[in-house]
Amino acid sequence: MRTLGIALIGLGAVGRAFIALLQARRAYLAAQYNLDVKLVGVATARRGTLFCPEGLDLAALSAVASAELSAYPDQARLLRTLEPLSLLTRPSVDVVIELTPTVYARDAEPAMSHIRAALAAGKHVITANKGPIALAYPELRAQAAHRGVFLGFEGTVMGGTPALRMARQGLAGCQISAVRGILNGTTNFILSEMESGKSYAEALSEAQARGYAEADPSNDVEGIDAAGKLIILAHVIFGKALGLDEIGREGITRLSQADIQAAQASGERWKLIAQAAIQPDGQVSASVKPMRLPLSDPLAQVGGGMNAITYQTDLIGAVTLIGAGAGGTATAYALLSDLIELAEQL
Ligand code: HSE
Repeated sequence: MRTLGIALIGLGAVGRAFIALLQARRAYLAAQYNLDVKLVGVATARRGTLFCPEGLDLAALSAVASAELSAYPDQARLLRTLEPLSLLTRPSVDVVIELTPTVYARDAEPAMSHIRAALAAGKHVITANKGPIALAYPELRAQAAHRGVFLGFEGTVMGGTPALRMARQGLAGCQISAVRGILNGTTNFILSEMESGKSYAEALSEAQARGYAEADPSNDVEGIDAAGKLIILAHVIFGKALGLDEIGREGITRLSQADIQAAQASGERWKLIAQAAIQPDGQVSASVKPMRLPLSDPLAQVGGGMNAITYQTDLIGAVTLIGAGAGGTATAYALLSDLIELAEQL
């Protein structure tokens, strides 16, 4: 049995769901992948840190994971005061899972420092944190390759729905010339709820309660989150590094209840559409904007917190993937799927 020691940096909805998933899938990981996953450390910004090289008790941790970690019971060799950067470089840590809140602008900190430090220390990294991957994927990928470690980020685009894995593996051998999709669950949920008569504010607060929204929801409603995901897709699919300022971007904040109803009356639906295409000269054009789609468009049928993406390929035409794009358990699944890919590579 191979044991992987994990450090979790950030313990929000996704981190808590991941701990629950580790408990639920323990026997499965052992039987299918000969893998024993040991959570050796957890770090939060304001609720404390825990580190134990023998592994933390997942049930006891789940019980306190929404509150102060000081309520976690004492155990032998438990440390409660390590800073994230010294926790993640400990010898018993094999994999760092970075889940601090996403920052798209500027430097994507503190996640960027966590990921750089982990890679520099020869740790495998798995993240659902979109900021560092959008901002610095070529650098991080090169650093991971240099250290011979795994960099998994499936959860950064469409949560647990394997959008990146489909482009990287499922469509291997095809050339993808364009992508078009609904990449933000919060805004899709808000637009769907507004169609059923809810106010924008009610719908946003429900999206927050469901764990869909970013810590700062202006990232969702201004289209920044969808643009970040488009940048990640462009890195993976086209090998192009786009800046946020190279993406024509408009969010949903200017859409009124009257706009939503006017579209409905004409048999159409507003959707926040992210799209990117590679031009014959190799340039990538990309935009995020609300569009009125006819109901015959498959993307018009994707409601609530769901996401969808259509890949335009040379050999099999258009391929569309629809699935959950946000939420704790769905995104935690993406982390698990990366962990399984890592286990298969080891
Ligand atoms: N805030 C994001 C969304 C979370 O609503 O899609 C998943 O990336």
